[in-house]
Amino acid sequence: MRVLGIETSCDETGIAIYDNEQGLLAHAIYSQTEIHEKYGGVVPELASRDHIQKTLPLIETVLTEAKCKASSIHGVAYTAGPGLVGALLVGASIGRSLAFAWGVPAIAVHHMEGHLLAPLLEDKTPEFPFLALLVSGGHTMLVDVRAMGEYHVLGDSVDDAAGEAFDKTAKILGLGYPGGPKLAELAQKGDRSRFHFPRPMTTRPGLDFSFSGLKTFALNTLQNNSSAKEDIAAAFEDAVVDTLLIKCQRALRETGYKRLVVAGGVSANLHLRETLDRAMQDIDVQVFYPRHEFCTDNGAMIAFTGCKRLIAGQRTDLKVAARSRWPLSELERIENSL
Ligand code: KG4
Ligand code: ZN
Repeated sequence: MRVLGIETSCDETGIAIYDNEQGLLAHAIYSQTEIHEKYGGVVPELASRDHIQKTLPLIETVLTEAKCKASSIHGVAYTAGPGLVGALLVGASIGRSLAFAWGVPAIAVHHMEGHLLAPLLEDKTPEFPFLALLVSGGHTMLVDVRAMGEYHVLGDSVDDAAGEAFDKTAKILGLGYPGGPKLAELAQKGDRSRFHFPRPMTTRPGLDFSFSGLKTFALNTLQNNSSAKEDIAAAFEDAVVDTLLIKCQRALRETGYKRLVVAGGVSANLHLRETLDRAMQDIDVQVFYPRHEFCTDNGAMIAFTGCKRLIAGQRTDLKVAARSRWPLSELERIENSL
């Protein structure tokens, strides 16, 4: 089965073609960074309008790159949530209409399931069950992944997600948008031990996360040490990474799993990867990540997830629908999808 995947949930237009036998045939990502940069964050209406302009041309580019005719596409997958509703509706309308015009089935894909399954596009893939740490701009979650499509959320963010905390703290430090990667770059030059930031919610039981206090801590530290941006970035990054590590260790103890998947935009963070790799090696846990370009939003993870659901016989009807909120636990298990 060969599937076209469309991702438009936020500020990236991602298109890909995934073939269940041949693997990923082609993919392309168009980032709207330049459009939103001057506003310091994503402007939803501008995001939707740009997706309208970019989606169809990018589909043509990817079809050409994959040397694929539209008639060889067996299904269309599109992100239907969670995300910005206007942006999602662009991908959903285009995806649903193309499937109708081509006479093939369509499938609405959950954005976070896409992130969660992205490491399965690599050569070394985890067997089920495993623990997943999803760290993106909108979510921070620990998920007990019993099977493909069977997700039990063990921990969630009660306020700012990890990526959001990176972005907001980067703004405080005057680094602009998108802040996460810029803050990470600055942190590499900093002294991690000069300031000590709190590790929120680690001293009490439970697997939930709260990162909103860290930006206030960063602001207060900056006010008293205005020339210490590098060290503040390093201390902030260290606090987020250490907090994520503590909660992963706790969830691994509770589930008894020996496999950890880390995905979503923040999984691109080098300090996070190095810290997790070292700590997990000590307790004999294998860690799996997507390749760098598939940590952040992309079409490949949507084409892959949609393909697995379509093979299992799942279909989305003719209605064009998008959901800004969509709990992972509502998803149907994917049977016989390998
Ligand atoms: O998964 P993603 O592309 O979009 C959402 O689903 O939200 O994640 C984007 C988030 C942003 O908050 C961005 O700042 C963060 O991931 N991010 C990073 C890094 N690269 C992206 N955060 C820290 N370090 C990075 N290297
Ligand atoms: Zn995402």
